[in-house]
Amino acid sequence: MAVVQGHRIHWGASLESGFGVEVSSVSGQRPYRLQMGWPKCMCPGCCRIYHVTEPSEGEREAYTVGPSGQREAYTTEASGQQVVYTTDHNDQREVPKEEKPMSRLIVFLGSTRDGRNGTRVATHLVNLLKERKHAVTVFDPLKMPFELLRQPLHFMPDQSAAPQWLRDANAEIAAADGFVVVTPEYNCSLPPALVNMLDHFPPASFQHRPVGIACYSLGPFGGMRAAAFARPHLSELGLVSIPAQFTVPTVTQSYSADGQPQNERIENNAARLVTELSWYVDALKAARAAGVPN
Ligand SMILES: Cc1cc2nc3c(=O)[nH]c(=O)nc-3n(C[C@H](O)[C@H](O)[C@H](O)COP(=O)(O)O)c2cc1C
Repeated sequence: MAVVQGHRIHWGASLESGFGVEVSSVSGQRPYRLQMGWPKCMCPGCCRIYHVTEPSEGEREAYTVGPSGQREAYTTEASGQQVVYTTDHNDQREVPKEEKPMSRLIVFLGSTRDGRNGTRVATHLVNLLKERKHAVTVFDPLKMPFELLRQPLHFMPDQSAAPQWLRDANAEIAAADGFVVVTPEYNCSLPPALVNMLDHFPPASFQHRPVGIACYSLGPFGGMRAAAFARPHLSELGLVSIPAQFTVPTVTQSYSADGQPQNERIENNAARLVTELSWYVDALKAARAAGVPN
């Protein structure tokens, strides 16, 4: 830490747990993605630190803009040295360096059909999530012993009487930081295997976490109508459905059987979903740590 002209300089590490914002202007080059930190320090100044996460070659300078449009902080990077300048405040406590903890994500597969295509889409998304260092679990209704819903877990008078695997699955959901739903479109709607799986679990286990929707179909519309039904369903579970939607038309042409994307559009849109979801995962994780509404 050092002090320059009454401003404090933080070395970026502990800011890793923050969440991303786009800078509004950058000298000379494309905008960088920044991270807003949630450092341990409680002073007002520290709560508005930004950190460059996508540096490019050469010297850089990026400005961040506060809620009322004022220049609030700026970042420079030269000769491989990165510093983050914050706005004026008097606190001089050093922000400790810490690793960003791994986030836990669950991918829900929506199909149990023989010869299903959903695994193509899910395989790609799981790979992208793992590249981002998320810990990923797949909830596959074909491999998990879901029966047609007899009673949701939270309707059971004695939940300890529920099968252990179901209670474990519920605990895994409650411990997750975010979700992806991979759904086909069946008769203009959601597939029964997906709805049946989700409805076993209490909304309390999902709430305050983000979910990304990936939809697909054999046809040109990519299962968009299923996605439209998924949003209110997931919202009812207490999830925050992120704006990005990954729509996969003609799924057997968009993906190889082993889940390799077959065109750039699919690659870009999948990456967009994963990037946005990761942002929400970090943002809502920080928000939950600060407290949740009753
Ligand atoms: C019962 C059923 C209903 C379907 N309804 C639609 C539909 O409404 N719209 C559509 O675009 N595709 C529809 N399809 C085609 C699916 O998009 C396609 O079969 C897709 O691969 C299904 O996902 P899955 O292979 O993972 O089961 C339907 C398929 C099935 C099995």
